[in-house]
Amino acid sequence: MKQFFSTFAVALSFVAGAASAQSPSSGAAAQARLELDQDAAGPVIEPAVYGHFVEHMGTGVYGGMWVGPESSIPNTRGWRNDVVQALRQVGIPVMRWPGGCFADDYDWRDGIGDPEKRPVRVNRWWGGTENNRVGTHEFMDLVEQLGSEAYLAGNMGSMPPRALSQWLEYMTADGKSTLAEERRKNGRDKPWKVKYVGVGNESWGCGGNMRGEYQSDLHNRYATFLGQVVRVASGDGEGNDALVDVLMARSGKHMDAFTLHYYTIPGDWSRKGEATGFDAQAWARTLKSAMGIDGRIEAVSRIMDKHDPKRRIALYVDEWGSWYDTPPGAPALHQQNSLRDAMIAALSFNAFHRHTDRVRMANIAQMVNVLQAMVLTDGPSMVLTPTYHAFDLYRPFRGATPLRATLQTPRFSVGDVELPSVDMSAARTPDGQVVLALANLDPKRPAQVATGLKRAARGRLLTASAIDAHNTFAQPRAVVPVPFDAKPGKDGLTLQLPPASLVVVTLAP
Ligand code: AHR
Repeated sequence: MKQFFSTFAVALSFVAGAASAQSPSSGAAAQARLELDQDAAGPVIEPAVYGHFVEHMGTGVYGGMWVGPESSIPNTRGWRNDVVQALRQVGIPVMRWPGGCFADDYDWRDGIGDPEKRPVRVNRWWGGTENNRVGTHEFMDLVEQLGSEAYLAGNMGSMPPRALSQWLEYMTADGKSTLAEERRKNGRDKPWKVKYVGVGNESWGCGGNMRGEYQSDLHNRYATFLGQVVRVASGDGEGNDALVDVLMARSGKHMDAFTLHYYTIPGDWSRKGEATGFDAQAWARTLKSAMGIDGRIEAVSRIMDKHDPKRRIALYVDEWGSWYDTPPGAPALHQQNSLRDAMIAALSFNAFHRHTDRVRMANIAQMVNVLQAMVLTDGPSMVLTPTYHAFDLYRPFRGATPLRATLQTPRFSVGDVELPSVDMSAARTPDGQVVLALANLDPKRPAQVATGLKRAARGRLLTASAIDAHNTFAQPRAVVPVPFDAKPGKDGLTLQLPPASLVVVTLAP
């Protein structure tokens, strides 16, 4: 018996079974066994773990979400109604904005006041120009339309601390402050609520190419002037344990959360791979890369534990998702989204659920038309991606308590990549229901997961006949969830998972 990940000893034990390590060509089902415990495996799954990230690039904001009040595309004060409605339906607990790399080159003053008079700037990181038509007032309107929380990514790379503290004062001050009056003059009487503020982004890279020691001094200085917000420190995205250690040691006192960025890439940064048209080998390589998020969270948490044994400081995975080669001529970081992306989402959610003692927010990169998007648009058309459906399937996990479980699963191989056939997550919802997510990662072989439970299960299944199946404007329902029911047999409940599939069910009481 071999444990895939040492961390699962706490939350889940995944145990290799006797099945062959070779990729099976037969249709015989892989046999897995799940023992579900009633004990909590950790603190509740914060709804913010299902959070989002919005950056000014390509058609991520302009066109994809913002069309302007004068557009023929139906909109509410400039935000397109079809996209807002889809996002409201899935629930957007928190949105990080305005970047990314963009945030460390952003002056909030460019985005307030008369829209016709706002400056046009070069978008240094993502190409083209930024006309600042979407600024603070417009973003906060979107936050309110979606019933979300605002997570502002503050500029530490190229603006002084006073700029960041004044942005917050402009947004949140009541009474007679000059900045509050300016906000009122610009059309917003009531102060906004800003819960989270990021102090820089990827300060080791596009945020200023800083040494950890220098960044931590700067962080402490900026964080001093933030007031009553969750202070989020820019963290790691390159597997740099030494950086985590330095920042935790020198800035731990001045932060409430530390960040991790983790992108799933089938190849390497020079040749990332295709979003569609890939083979089983690329499928497996990609899922293996996605599963690496678990080990990275584990490693960062271990270093955080050293400096913060009581776990006051949260870990926010505030950029995660797939990153493929952008097709020639496409807007910045635009990519299709296939069944494989839904599996990446499931694997990431499962990893977050295993680490609720630290992971209290995660933000997929990004919400619309950029990287692993929830929604794709083209002019007036909109389509929901398989990733959107994965978020929707996992909705019952928000606010639920993860449960201990032991999963015995066979492994399968494609070429030189070996993976467990099944990955899973279980939790108890606040109203006492048990919810179970099971992903069959094997692209060829079905899986049977025996639970021994004398309970029925009801929920939804997401799969397709091709591993790169995706939704298009012409065929928006190629990958959509379908009902899934299972009744216990004489040996209890056994769930039948098609190859390359995701099932989320609630167990009958
Ligand atoms: O999400 C795209 C970019 O990836 C972000 O701007 C940056 O923070 C990261 O490198």
